[in-house]
Amino acid sequence: MGKPWLTWTFSVLLGLATAEQPSAPRPVAAPMRSLPWGDLNFMQTTDTHGWHAGHLQEPQYSADWGDYISFAERIREQADRRGADLLLIDTGDRIEGNGLYDGSSPKGEFFYDIVKEQHIDVITMGNHELYQADAAAREYDLTVPNFEGRYLASNLDYVNPKTGEKIPMAQRFRKFTTKNRGIRVVAFGFLFNFNGNANNTVVQKVEDTIKEQWFQDAIREPCDLFLVIGHVTLDGPEYKALYAAIRDQNWDTPIQFFGGHSHIRSFAKYDSKAYALQAGRYFETIGWMSIQGIGSSPQDHGGELKKRGSMTFQRRYIDNNLFGYHYHTGLDEKTFPTEHGKNVSAMIRSARKALKLDHSFGCAPRDLWLSRAPYPSENSIFTWLETEVLPKVVKNDTRTNIPTLALTNTGTLRFDIFKGPFTKDTTYIISPFVSKFRYIKDVPYEAAKRILPLINNEDKVLSTTRLNAAYLAPPEQISIQEDVITPSPLSSSTDGKEPPLIPGYTTKDAFGTDGDDTIHSPISHYQVPNCIQVPLSFPISEQPEKVDVVFVDFIQPWILLALKYSGADYGVEDVDLYTQETLTELMAGWIGKNWGKDC
Ligand SMILES: *[C@@H]1O[C@H](CO)[C@@H](O)[C@H](O)[C@H]1NC(C)=O
Ligand SMILES: *[C@@H]1O[C@H](CO)[C@@H](O)[C@H](O)[C@H]1NC(C)=O
Ligand SMILES: *[C@@H]1O[C@H](CO)[C@@H](O)[C@H](O)[C@H]1NC(C)=O
Ligand SMILES: [Zn+2]
Repeated sequence: MGKPWLTWTFSVLLGLATAEQPSAPRPVAAPMRSLPWGDLNFMQTTDTHGWHAGHLQEPQYSADWGDYISFAERIREQADRRGADLLLIDTGDRIEGNGLYDGSSPKGEFFYDIVKEQHIDVITMGNHELYQADAAAREYDLTVPNFEGRYLASNLDYVNPKTGEKIPMAQRFRKFTTKNRGIRVVAFGFLFNFNGNANNTVVQKVEDTIKEQWFQDAIREPCDLFLVIGHVTLDGPEYKALYAAIRDQNWDTPIQFFGGHSHIRSFAKYDSKAYALQAGRYFETIGWMSIQGIGSSPQDHGGELKKRGSMTFQRRYIDNNLFGYHYHTGLDEKTFPTEHGKNVSAMIRSARKALKLDHSFGCAPRDLWLSRAPYPSENSIFTWLETEVLPKVVKNDTRTNIPTLALTNTGTLRFDIFKGPFTKDTTYIISPFVSKFRYIKDVPYEAAKRILPLINNEDKVLSTTRLNAAYLAPPEQISIQEDVITPSPLSSSTDGKEPPLIPGYTTKDAFGTDGDDTIHSPISHYQVPNCIQVPLSFPISEQPEKVDVVFVDFIQPWILLALKYSGADYGVEDVDLYTQETLTELMAGWIGKNWGKDC
């Protein structure tokens, strides 16, 4: 070690940092890399999915939105002292996936007022803002005005509920000049070519938007930087098309992209003056990007153009915790928080209280992992579901003692369960989906037993159809599944002085392996199947002749298709409701009966 960019910090600081949410765990000291500054600097959040209270069971990500507000204010002060600029970016999927948003009816009762407190300079929407019509309406009625002039919707229209008229969701682009350096920026805000939205919004394909006159005019505006933010993956066709269109007109102007959607830390180079950053998921990561050598036209030069120098682009992925926030600002628990930040932490605290998010159903006796433990194994959430939960909760009084195959897709769960209290908040975190069980009765067992291997792609049949089993995972989880890391031993680098490495992100991106601000030991990920299945009430000695096929409603199209391939032709008219409660409610009920109350 001992490289200049690497500064070791000592565990003396351990214990000084306390996160603002009262139940948040203390952040843990770790070796750090500092932030590379430039003339123009960015901080990005994306795919926060309601985690604005921070991760209350993971010290590494335990800072809340109020702490991030303090952090941004302190970094902005630093930028002012350096004569540099700081811009904040958010690229959507702010909602769905955490009780702070999902825990009220209608959803987001306290959420929008909390989010708006951060001064975000350029903000846009993700697919999750648009699945439900009421959420899209709140986006239009609340978030767009909350970020007036800074919310960009380059390829999204809203359908006015009264007149049926199609209007831009927000302004298409924005031209502005930065405060300290006078850098002229032309900014856009895009959503990938998404078609699962409710009918009160209209997503225009990026490739079609590019052809529109307003866009063609905007990319001819004189500026020092094109800034393209979007809920778009960095390697997707949408950014390829946007990059080509802007480069076509501007052979040399720097272009900075910010992306999202696939929930990973990622960085890409399109050419020597065009780069893209993506800041992970669930408010675990603040993306940092800096550009040095950028041209500008400061007002005090009378608008005169300052020539571009040789340019440097650098990135950093900041773990969202107070230890790192103090480290990067050089402040401590007394000097770091701002009044505004503390106020917002207090808002979050009272919202969580009003929503009763800390209400505990029971105490998880061990960690249960989605992919950090092999399946099957004691610490696999799917093994737990299969062996303990499903046999007890998959029940319908009209179908008792009938041999049954119960199936669920693994994508229906989207977060780990940690040892400790399983709360109301946890229910929204592990599954924001409202899947209930449905069933088809009396299916010949010879056909039913083929469903699981078909859906799990052991046979390639389904992969050639529209119902490719890969799509069984929610879109944002697909890339994670492809990116399976093989288990590797923990690297131990302790000589007694340095704090031990804690498991976490060890990101590899287009610039190498030095992007993470915190140096972690790697986490192992294991492949899990698309679906799991449990046989219930099966006869002991022989195979049943017929079974009830019970499944979570989300996978119904795959079930019907797999049955068809197996020679059993069923349609939607053969499917009935099996449970009134959602999978999540059934799990919470099981936990209340089977896990102790006190931790
Ligand atoms: C949109 O969908 C809703 C609910 O499905 C329906 O009531 C409404 O008529 C639809 N509106 C339009 C403009 O198609
Ligand atoms: C913080 O909250 C207090 C009390 O509600 C209020 O008086 C003050 O103006 C707030 N300060 C900021 C910076 O938001
Ligand atoms: C049990 O199944 C029947 C028939 O599909 C259905 O009408 C009923 O609602 C189900 N019972 C529960 C508790 O969901
Ligand atoms: Zn997302």
